Amino acid sequence: MSATSPAEALRRAEDAIHQTGETPDLLEARLRALYELGRFETAIGLARRILELHPDRPLAAEYLGWLTENMAPPRLGPSAAAERSYETELPRSVLLRIQQAVHHYRYRGLQLVKNPLDLALYSLLFEEVRPRTVIEIGSKAGGSAVWFADLLLRLGIDAHVHSFDVFPVADVTHPNVTFYQGDGRRLHEAIDEVFVNGLARPLLVVEDADHAYETTSAVLAWCQLWLRQGEYVVIEDGNLSDLYPELYPDHTSGPHRAIREFLAQHGDEYEIDAGLCDFFGYNATSCSNGFLRRTTGNDGAAAAADVLRRRPWADALAPAEVLSVPSMLSDRERGLLYWLARSHFSGAGRIVDAGCFLGGSTAALAAGVRDRESSPHDEMIVSYDLFRVEQYTLEGFAEYLPSTVVGSSFRAAFDRNVAPFGHGEVREGDICAIGWSGEPIEVLFLDIVKTWGVHDVIMAEFLPCLIPGRSVILQQDYLWGYAPWIHMTMELIGDHVEILDWMPNGTVVYLLHTAPPPAILETRLQDLSPQQQLALMDAAVDRWTGEPRGMVELARVVLIAELDGARRADEEFRIVRARYGESTWVQSCVRVLAATMGWWSQ
Ligand SMILES: C[S@@+](CC[C@H](N)C(=O)[O-])C[C@H]1O[C@@H](n2cnc3c(N)ncnc32)[C@H](O)[C@@H]1O
Repeated sequence: MSATSPAEALRRAEDAIHQTGETPDLLEARLRALYELGRFETAIGLARRILELHPDRPLAAEYLGWLTENMAPPRLGPSAAAERSYETELPRSVLLRIQQAVHHYRYRGLQLVKNPLDLALYSLLFEEVRPRTVIEIGSKAGGSAVWFADLLLRLGIDAHVHSFDVFPVADVTHPNVTFYQGDGRRLHEAIDEVFVNGLARPLLVVEDADHAYETTSAVLAWCQLWLRQGEYVVIEDGNLSDLYPELYPDHTSGPHRAIREFLAQHGDEYEIDAGLCDFFGYNATSCSNGFLRRTTGNDGAAAAADVLRRRPWADALAPAEVLSVPSMLSDRERGLLYWLARSHFSGAGRIVDAGCFLGGSTAALAAGVRDRESSPHDEMIVSYDLFRVEQYTLEGFAEYLPSTVVGSSFRAAFDRNVAPFGHGEVREGDICAIGWSGEPIEVLFLDIVKTWGVHDVIMAEFLPCLIPGRSVILQQDYLWGYAPWIHMTMELIGDHVEILDWMPNGTVVYLLHTAPPPAILETRLQDLSPQQQLALMDAAVDRWTGEPRGMVELARVVLIAELDGARRADEEFRIVRARYGESTWVQSCVRVLAATMGWWSQ
């Protein structure tokens, strides 16, 4: 006859308790059976109850002691980076044996190079974060990307895996995986702002490339720009330090060095998830100190600024239908507007299109908004113009204007030109009278600041609505030798803006990085003393060299004419004209100024 099974012993003990009551012996018989069955959590509860009822029962005390010690939740190391060593408590012999085996592990026939402990940890991580997007760097055979995607599916998480490798996987397909060619050391080229803006969040980044310091550092720098609060980056294979200490003494594997350096700089924005790193033992993972969780908010401003500084619009071309709209803007300027609306604009504020003339800027902006990955926001564009024919516009644009009578309306032509693009809101009339609504402005295109009056309204009503870290200002008239108020204002707020780019047709592109104090924006330039005005203008001149400097020097002449009269201005004018005699660009402005201002007395 076979020995009584634990299940049978449990049934008998429970029946006896039912009939005779909870005697200490019967309770202990039930406890032993529960323990032998492996029902440890129930056994712990019962042992406690026995000791409450019968504090002198040594068997219950012995079981409780043993069970609580062995069933204790994992003891974790600290999560503060400064308090954690980079070593693992796994013996090196075990690490080496696993490392050898992982290269032979297959999932659905594909090589999957992961430590079995990490396979378990990823499952915990996925359930905790529920990422909607995984970006993997280092696809190898594609096994890990497919395994990630399958696991996410089984966990009921609607996610997509984007896997990058310098040698992209070409022969593996999965509905939730896309493989790309991409270098982790140049991740910003493979994954630009447009791509990131289109990703479902939360985002999880897995760095599993060549385990070189340079690659891990570059991936971490990318994460610093884009990861939001609560999102993770996993740095794999730091434990090369433990596997090959002779190569990486003192935990100096590429990933370990990169993590250490990154956290020294950004440690207050991340924590090491000790719950994962130490789940199976202190750093019992290939990703030692490598499960990093972002703890601080990130509105993407740093990332946006970083993208803008690379001037990605340099190669951007507005679509042909945009370029066919008559415009005083160059193709480069319209490429810039198109790029800003398509790739920078986020909806955080409106796009101001001030001085839209026949619709060239409007079409570029509206087409950019139309071509965005995410939902269209064309109602976010606000276009201002008087829509009245001026004398100077007759020179190159008469054929596009419904009438050549100065003062007549060309609104109908504007409407026709921008109709295909779904242009948003048009505010016809004097911007000084219309003003601004006080809403945030994300892109401020200014091709309208031709007078002190317009300048004052821009300064008082539009500039205070810019969003620090996001807003881009385009001063189209900056590099045309006129409108000194523009140069003076940009100097006044000079500590709060950064020049991103300039274009020969006139536009200077600024990022507003911090909010100018209200006291600065309340300054009325014309209330400043002549010395103060000239000091601002001189500072503007000093920012530039070559032809752009010539343009700003001409604008300075215009200011001198206002402050000191035509004679002094004429002297300066002759000097600037002679200094830039070789520059056709500056000379084209010289001729216009001479004709309109009447100084050039020859
Ligand atoms: C450790 S394997 C990836 C293993 C895979 N994630 C897995 O778990 O099965 C490293 C991969 O990184 C790729 N790689 C190396 N340097 C890279 C870089 N700078 N950028 C992107 N991929 C890189 C290699 O081509 C190789 O396929």
